[in-house]
Amino acid sequence: MEKIILTGDRPTGKLHIGHYVGSLRRRVELQNSGLYDKIFVFEADAQALTDNIENPEKVRQNVIEVALDYLAAGLDPAKTTLFIQSQIPELCELSFYFMDLVSVSRLQRNPTVKTEVQMRGFSGESIPVGFFTYPISQAADITIFKATTVPAGEDQEPMLEQAREIVRRFNHIYGDTLVEPNILLPDNAACLRLPGTDGKAKMSKSLGNCIYLSDSADEVNKKVKTMYTDPEHLQVSDPGHLEGNTVFTYLDAFATDEQVARLTTDYQTLQEMKDHYTRGGLGDVKCKKLLMAVLQETLEPIRQRRAEYEKDIPAVYEILRKGCEVARAAACETMDQVRRAMKINYFDDRALIQEQALRFQKQ
Ligand code: TRP
Repeated sequence: MEKIILTGDRPTGKLHIGHYVGSLRRRVELQNSGLYDKIFVFEADAQALTDNIENPEKVRQNVIEVALDYLAAGLDPAKTTLFIQSQIPELCELSFYFMDLVSVSRLQRNPTVKTEVQMRGFSGESIPVGFFTYPISQAADITIFKATTVPAGEDQEPMLEQAREIVRRFNHIYGDTLVEPNILLPDNAACLRLPGTDGKAKMSKSLGNCIYLSDSADEVNKKVKTMYTDPEHLQVSDPGHLEGNTVFTYLDAFATDEQVARLTTDYQTLQEMKDHYTRGGLGDVKCKKLLMAVLQETLEPIRQRRAEYEKDIPAVYEILRKGCEVARAAACETMDQVRRAMKINYFDDRALIQEQALRFQKQ
């Protein structure tokens, strides 16, 4: 069986370093591993519209920002198909048939939908149908490309579970057609959910606690300087705490021991530095200096690539347009199989037409 990756993001804002360690970095590694037959990365603009109904301009503006972030992070259009969800009408078609396979109560039990409904303050049945059913549309996103592997954050786990259920139900009723996808989670706890610079659980635009991939070196340093650490670590000599200490969480997510050895004078590994911090005698400023250096090493090549692509924006749209063509061809192939399995392929089934002709002759 072909090994196929599919994943994507809602284009509602520029991508930040939480996206990077949570999924983007992994995608680039997978792309360059050569282990996969096909890789699709897409912008879920139609899904973004399900809860930005009155703000289409925001989605439109961010489609190009996210495309630039993808390319800057190292996704290579020669290896990865980059496309935009709304340009693949077959996704609507597949979603429509999937709707027959999912009950209202099953959607209501989806934990991600539950929290999002609460977050957005929808009460009871005032929730828009399109938003309520987006897990179904997301199952179509994944399965129309026969994805085997979906690199994503743990918040997407319920979506994948729902997609697998739909595939099982579809294949059971209509015969083996679609492929059950597996989620590929980040392998490091710090990457699973990178906190904001203020130490709050999540990096989010509305909380103003993000470091963006497109931030300048100065902006990044300024954000690291004011970053949340250990409120009980008042004097350098005090023993420090690592738990909930954002600087160390970020170091866990970004720093390799090689970098620690090269960029500090006193430590060979991150663990040695942590030990010194918890013993007492290591100040926050030194830790932040290391973090700044590590972040710069990661972000500088990304910034440079972004600047290159920014010089020719029409070419970036062209990359997306070509990606949409490739993605659409793959989607059409699966839909042919789906229509055949569901017995709605009337016109390319010659046997059917002949059989019906015979049946009516006899009468
Ligand atoms: N729900 C994802 C998010 O909010 C975006 C998304 C849409 C997605 N369809 C997908 C992710 C399919 C992985 C696979 O970020």
